[in-house]
Amino acid sequence: MKKILLIITGGVAAFKALEVLRQLKKNGHIVRCILTAGAQEFITPLSVAALSGEQAYTTLWDTTQEAEIGHIQLVRWADVVVVVPATANFIAKMAHGLADDLASTALLANINPVLIAPAMNVRMWEHPATYANMALLRARGVQVIAPEVGEMACGEVGEGRLAAVEGIIAAVQAALNPDHPLKGKHMIITAGGTREAIDPVRFIGNHSSGKQGYAIATAALQAGARVTLISAPTGLTPPPVANYVAVSDAASMLAAVEQALPADVFIGAAAVADWCMADPAAQKLKKNDGQDVLTLNLRKTPDILAHVAQHANRPALVVGFAAETENMLENARAKLVKKGCDWVLANDVSANQVFGQDTNAVHFIAYNLHEDWGTLLKMQVAQRLVDKIAAHFHSV
Ligand code: C5P
Repeated sequence: MKKILLIITGGVAAFKALEVLRQLKKNGHIVRCILTAGAQEFITPLSVAALSGEQAYTTLWDTTQEAEIGHIQLVRWADVVVVVPATANFIAKMAHGLADDLASTALLANINPVLIAPAMNVRMWEHPATYANMALLRARGVQVIAPEVGEMACGEVGEGRLAAVEGIIAAVQAALNPDHPLKGKHMIITAGGTREAIDPVRFIGNHSSGKQGYAIATAALQAGARVTLISAPTGLTPPPVANYVAVSDAASMLAAVEQALPADVFIGAAAVADWCMADPAAQKLKKNDGQDVLTLNLRKTPDILAHVAQHANRPALVVGFAAETENMLENARAKLVKKGCDWVLANDVSANQVFGQDTNAVHFIAYNLHEDWGTLLKMQVAQRLVDKIAAHFHSV
């Protein structure tokens, strides 16, 4: 848990700062926000206060705000300062040391790490003035979360759109965690629920949302690992991993894993279907008149986790998940032995309270160890797992 000062300046992307705020809170941080006058044209101090659970700071001239916690205290309090979005005007003020409102004054008094996520029209971004200002800020050690290329609110297309929220969060986490305990380690993570084709339009699927696997990929990234995320379809935006591979079924997931090896760590967070069609139909299956029953011929899919655990190129750590509806601990332990992995994270899905949710109730199981982690946010489960992995590598 860290203390983050989030400065929101006045661009159309200001509303996305609310999502950044929500995610930082979800990761367990305390977040205080300063809104510039421009930002308040787009979002209200009330929504910021509601989401942060803290007063929203807006002005240098309010005797109550300044008396309670002045601009100097705000930056002294923070571990890191993040500006989302950073407008061209605010970047210019930062570059030249202007201090004419609470946000710019706080930054001038700040000695903590600063990250900025610029967002503006492509011509403003590419203007020599902005370019020179950015060079000044970079030279001063300000970390820039680069804008993306894309369509903008003004209708133009080009570089200048605010970076994805996930990318901003990952950059903030990395700044908070500079020692990168998993630097140099390659981690392969599978996520999502596979889809096994019945015919060209139908599939056998499951309820996995991919959230736990994506959270692990994010935490691994923040710990400095090189991450390959092999994902079956999800509704999620992937974190900015080095290697993202989109797959659909168990066979293509296995092929992608084979391609990504060797690795130091393999984490099988995907819900891989156990069965696929023995012979998927080449054309859409028809309903025949008078037919009440359809029998599908299924065959076993490859067990990716077991395959990796017994591979000639076996990663030093192989971690599986066990979603159980009964006898959770016994079944999870049996799975550990049968598949030959090192650790299993077991969860009880009997009440179906895990799929799609932000929380997970997890037991950590190794050969000679069992820990009940209780109910945690999926991001916290991910963080704990990554901490364990880091501890494992530092102890061997
Ligand atoms: O055997 P079960 O499906 O319960 O095991 C779950 C674990 O095994 C998960 O880590 C999952 O990713 C992995 N698995 C796999 N390939 C399969 C089935 C499961 O990698 N075909």
